[in-house]
Amino acid sequence: MPSTRNLAAELKISRMPVMGAFEQLLAEGYLETFVGAGTCVARSIPDDTLAPLAVKARKELQEIAEKRGPRRMSRRGTALTRVPAQPWLDNLGAFRVSLPALDHFPIAIWSKLLARHSRRPPRGIMAYGDAMGYLPFREAIAEYLGAVRGVRCQSSQILVTTGSQQALQIAAQVLLDPKDRVCIEEPGYPGARQAFMTAGTQLIPVPVDDDGMNVREIIRRGRKARAVYVTPSHQYPMGATMSATRRMLLLNWAVRSGAWIIEDDYDSEYRFGSRPIASLQGLDTDARVIYVGTFSKVMFPALRLGYMVVPKDLVPAFSAARDATDIFSSTLYQAVLTDFLREGHFARHIRRMRMLYMDRRRALVKAIHVQMGDILEVIGAEAGMHLVALLPRGTSDVEVSRNAAQRGISAMPLSACYLRPPTRGGLILGYGGASSRQIHEGVSKLSMSVQSGDTHVDSF
Ligand SMILES: Cc1ncc(COP(=O)(O)O)c(C=O)c1O
Repeated sequence: MPSTRNLAAELKISRMPVMGAFEQLLAEGYLETFVGAGTCVARSIPDDTLAPLAVKARKELQEIAEKRGPRRMSRRGTALTRVPAQPWLDNLGAFRVSLPALDHFPIAIWSKLLARHSRRPPRGIMAYGDAMGYLPFREAIAEYLGAVRGVRCQSSQILVTTGSQQALQIAAQVLLDPKDRVCIEEPGYPGARQAFMTAGTQLIPVPVDDDGMNVREIIRRGRKARAVYVTPSHQYPMGATMSATRRMLLLNWAVRSGAWIIEDDYDSEYRFGSRPIASLQGLDTDARVIYVGTFSKVMFPALRLGYMVVPKDLVPAFSAARDATDIFSSTLYQAVLTDFLREGHFARHIRRMRMLYMDRRRALVKAIHVQMGDILEVIGAEAGMHLVALLPRGTSDVEVSRNAAQRGISAMPLSACYLRPPTRGGLILGYGGASSRQIHEGVSKLSMSVQSGDTHVDSF
């Protein structure tokens, strides 16, 4: 190499950047220095890595890769690639499921609390924390669940997660082995299906009706099942509430067969006609229920905070699994949300959103009735942030959803919630994040989406 002085002179720049570049190249192993001989190019670098790949060679490599086809992954990894494209999730337009009214979130209060904790954070907020979560947050959650959801627990049983998706994943990892049988609702939450599928378990679809999951079917067909995933307060997506008889039957079955019940209580805060139904966990006398909840709908999804209530004897295993997954959730947001809960902002926000969603639900039901009353049949509109609109038999919900996505509308096809082909298609329409104008316009676009193109199938 030329000396740094000569090179700087040749390039007409100061010596500093040249010396900086030499140091960097030395640190990365491209240069070597020899006493008395100055700096040389390192001997250990093969010639061909020094020259950029010729365009032809690069093309050849690409062709080889293309011929070779997909590389070997695990069976679970391969199964994940079979999830079909979901164009209706590419936009945040009207009817996007699980989208709350973000523009009604009390952002000024949230920012104030965030500033309070981040201005001069104590060490506890910035250092590694407990895998189970930030203790004051867990205490606030335990209190809230006891008072509002009839959940019986102590703060030591609360495990804070990165949303309920992670809770389902951890539950599957701790409680189930590959090939274990898991009863899931049919139709049911695709996220749960994914979580149990990635754990390598065998899924048994159990039909739902107006009383929720058909527990007699579990008793009949799920004799060897190790777990049941269920949304008893507000069945996803159909909206039924599980009857008291079925709750007792399910709990008794779980005790008899030594199975676990994973209760997903994802949006029970929003019931319009009646008071919220108490949780299944609160009725459990054998510590068989793992209760899962989330702040995605009552706060906002990008917060990525959820929780689970773990039976006492399972706490060490769940804590270790959380530690092995991603150690713990951001302490800063846990601390901010603790204040949000403790200072009454949370309860106030839910009260306001309940009124707003009630109005939006009414607006959607009315718009469907007026514009598409002869096409869509509405079900499950008594609670939550979405309803299901059944399409006429013989109509492909996937095609309608695709057409709607092209018009900027996010309508999830009901068939995406089925493991087996459904007998009738439908659309899952979220109204939480849509204003009444968007609802009105959205229904017009839906109407066009049903009528346009080839939405007819013979298989339904
Ligand atoms: C049934 C159900 N469970 C859980 C969730 C929330 O998931 P997360 O907490 O991972 O955002 C949703 C959101 O769509 C849901 O519909």
